[in-house]
Amino acid sequence: MTMLSENVLSTFHDSFDRCRDNPRFFDLFYERFLQSSDEIEAIFNGVDIERVKKMVRDALLFILIASDGSSHGIQRINNLGRAHREWRIENHHYDLWLESLMSTVEEIDPLYSQNVDSAWREVMSIGIHIMKRNT
Ligand code: HEM
Repeated sequence: MTMLSENVLSTFHDSFDRCRDNPRFFDLFYERFLQSSDEIEAIFNGVDIERVKKMVRDALLFILIASDGSSHGIQRINNLGRAHREWRIENHHYDLWLESLMSTVEEIDPLYSQNVDSAWREVMSIGIHIMKRNT
């Protein structure tokens, strides 16, 4: 498990706080994600997206603690990855998820910078790696 520097973790956390302060953040993120391909739109057909958005909010924090090496966090993301495999989510879908997330961060975080972008990508790549390990 790669350990992230304190600097990356706090840059991510501060940006996440600013994004969460905007009530449109998760709406925009999932609107983008669903529009990113017909395949993604079809996968979410009939899913209660409001419920998913609320749970993704918490899942991002579990990714943060997992990326900091917490075994509890890693376990939670592992379980989430297993569920996604059962839902037939494939590895290439995660690329669309990440790009939808990053363009939303760019739009919403007033202090967005290259540094903020790479902090998110570093943290998320650990979470996505754990998710994919199950597929
Ligand atoms: C690291 C990336 C991701 C995270 C953190 C994440 C997180 C979550 C969470 C927390 C839930 C709710 C779980 C529950 O009901 O117990 C969920 C549901 C769902 N996710 Fe993801 N997700 C990710 C990537 C994806 C991708 C790439 C897809 C591809 C389309 C996807 C499709 C879904 C679907 C369809 C559901 C709802 C399943 C259902 O209730 O039937 N997710 N996700």
